[in-house]
Amino acid sequence: MKKWKDAHWQGEMRIAYDFNYMMDEYVGDSDGVTKAELDALTHRSGEIHAELAAKRKSGALPFFDLPYQDTSRVKELAEELASEFDNFVLLGIGGSALGPIALQTALRHPYHNLLTKKQRGGRPRMFFADNVDPDYFGRMMGMLDLKKTVFDVVTKSGGTSETMGQFMYARGAVVEALGKKALKEHFVCVTDPEKGNLRKIVTAEKYRSLEVPSGVGGRFSVFTPVGLLPAAVSGIDIDELLAGAADMDRRASKAELWENPAYLAAALQFISDTKKGKHIGVMMSYSNGLKDVADWYRQIWAESIGKKYDLEGKVVHVGQTPVKAVGATDQHSQVQLYMEGPKDKTFTFLRVEKFDEEVVFPRAYADMEGVSYLGGRGMAELINAEQAATEAALMKAGRPSARFILPELNAYTLGQLLYLLEVQTAFAGGLYNINPFDQPGVEEGKQLTYAMMDRPGYENKKAELEKLGRKKTWYIV
Ligand code: PA5
Repeated sequence: MKKWKDAHWQGEMRIAYDFNYMMDEYVGDSDGVTKAELDALTHRSGEIHAELAAKRKSGALPFFDLPYQDTSRVKELAEELASEFDNFVLLGIGGSALGPIALQTALRHPYHNLLTKKQRGGRPRMFFADNVDPDYFGRMMGMLDLKKTVFDVVTKSGGTSETMGQFMYARGAVVEALGKKALKEHFVCVTDPEKGNLRKIVTAEKYRSLEVPSGVGGRFSVFTPVGLLPAAVSGIDIDELLAGAADMDRRASKAELWENPAYLAAALQFISDTKKGKHIGVMMSYSNGLKDVADWYRQIWAESIGKKYDLEGKVVHVGQTPVKAVGATDQHSQVQLYMEGPKDKTFTFLRVEKFDEEVVFPRAYADMEGVSYLGGRGMAELINAEQAATEAALMKAGRPSARFILPELNAYTLGQLLYLLEVQTAFAGGLYNINPFDQPGVEEGKQLTYAMMDRPGYENKKAELEKLGRKKTWYIV
């Protein structure tokens, strides 16, 4: 592969944001955004830009500067782990799993774990345990040869119950199979530099560990060791990933709304949601490799923008609901609704111009026109024609859409896309006038879980639950 440092290649490998069909000129002014509506945001946009830039300068938003970090320790640890183990298991949830999974799906062979070790380039099989379903987790544990397995425990707070429960189980299994002395070798931890129970455990039990920088929340952590360690273990070039993010930083830190793809993407979704009734944002990837980017985006957009209170404490209940779809697969599942159902959606397509593999349909069935037209044409051509056709059909039906175009899917282009979506989200927080970096809405559910699991200190919550009484049997059939 050509190197990102080559300036010419860098130009060729820039991702593009095509928002033609978001505009009223194509989909009409009740569904599309007008230039005047974008222009009307330029003053507010300048203010938000200045606020973000000031916070970045003061160190309050460290996610912005992650593309420029020193990755030597991550790479060193990744090489150690890759040479020592055949299986790498990430234990984490939410922002501690979605970024790592998105990188893996996009940049590794889709059947990585089924390849021989030689075909995997000597890299371990990769597992991402992001739930506490006992069948899913227990069966994975039952299948692994623990002698050849390392567990990467990832939790920024160091106390998330799902992750800590998984860690306790895996730790117990390793002690039982290999003895207590083996623990130090078989666990690495990625957590806050100082705070949290996992950091205390790291110190007491002397695990190898990396840090999630303070001030970087889970959903903005894909460019920290949360995402970088598993990526590097599996052989992904993390320097190219960060180079892509740095390149996007140059484009997404421009003050001018019309020149900044991240600000434009945020503004278009914001206007569509708040003025055009597009309360749902579908991200539809026409690349299997990018489908988990849509999953990652679902979290960053939902958890960052979905808020009850604005910055002045007023109840606002804002947020556009992100939905994930995969093309062409979901053309045979969702597109009927997208075309003819409620006009409450925007569509953001992810499109790859040049795929790595060339799959050409052989010529056959010359006497059947309905089949033979495929002969000699490529699968890449078909999937991209389907993307363009779906977009055109939606546009004709007055349904706005935009495209992110990746010249190829590689670490450099993916780094650009993820960084852009992070800046889009931070900027959208300003447009909605909410804090995109907190998640108070998930707290209540967490506290009630603690109460149900009899965690000390949550007795009042338990009493609250008991007061709710039993559910009525006549509503259960
Ligand atoms: O974005 C977030 O902050 C959350 O989704 C967290 O990533 C998630 O709750 C897991 O938290 P932690 O990494 O502390 O285990």
